[in-house]
Amino acid sequence: MLLRLARRRAALVAASFVALAVLAAACGAETPTPECLEAQDGSLVPAGCAVEGQPTPTPTPTPAPDTGPTAQQLFAGTCGTCHAIDGLSTGAVGPDLTQIGARADAAYIKESILDPNAVIAGACPSGACPAGVMPSSFGALLSAAEIDALVDFLAAQR
Ligand code: HEC
Repeated sequence: MLLRLARRRAALVAASFVALAVLAAACGAETPTPECLEAQDGSLVPAGCAVEGQPTPTPTPTPAPDTGPTAQQLFAGTCGTCHAIDGLSTGAVGPDLTQIGARADAAYIKESILDPNAVIAGACPSGACPAGVMPSSFGALLSAAEIDALVDFLAAQR
């Protein structure tokens, strides 16, 4: 009877040692070793550390920001219904802009987009250009970056 109790105790002790060892191993795997730490803003933070025979952890690349439509796509979709550019659009309400960059500078082009009635272009496909036909809302509808991209795109049409 006594012997049996002693054996059971020994078995219990052994079992808890095994449990401790397993726990210790698990902790060891997750606690970064000193080489895996790096100083950042005065405190130590875990750093990617190379383990021999294993590939160095690479940081996940940040996805490129959504740049939206290109100036050409923007022009074709927003302006091309009224303006032609060879090979891109066939609109015939406002002047053909195929060579707008050769006869106008960026400042004029930008003003034409933001305030179309500031200057009324001379010749439209169907005769004298009408005032008040080109919408004057593009400054509110498009972002500043989109306007600038359109201006650059048109200034380059020569
Ligand atoms: C509903 C038709 C219409 C739309 C849409 C339109 N335009 Fe116009 N646009 C005109 C008309 C008509 C004129 C000529 C009258 C004037 O100068 O305001 C003109 C004039 C211009 C001029 C001056 C051309 C010159 O020869 O002096 C530029 C540059 C221009 N538009 C760019 C654009 C851009 C860029 C867009 C798109 C963001 C656009 N337009 C959208 C009708 C339109």
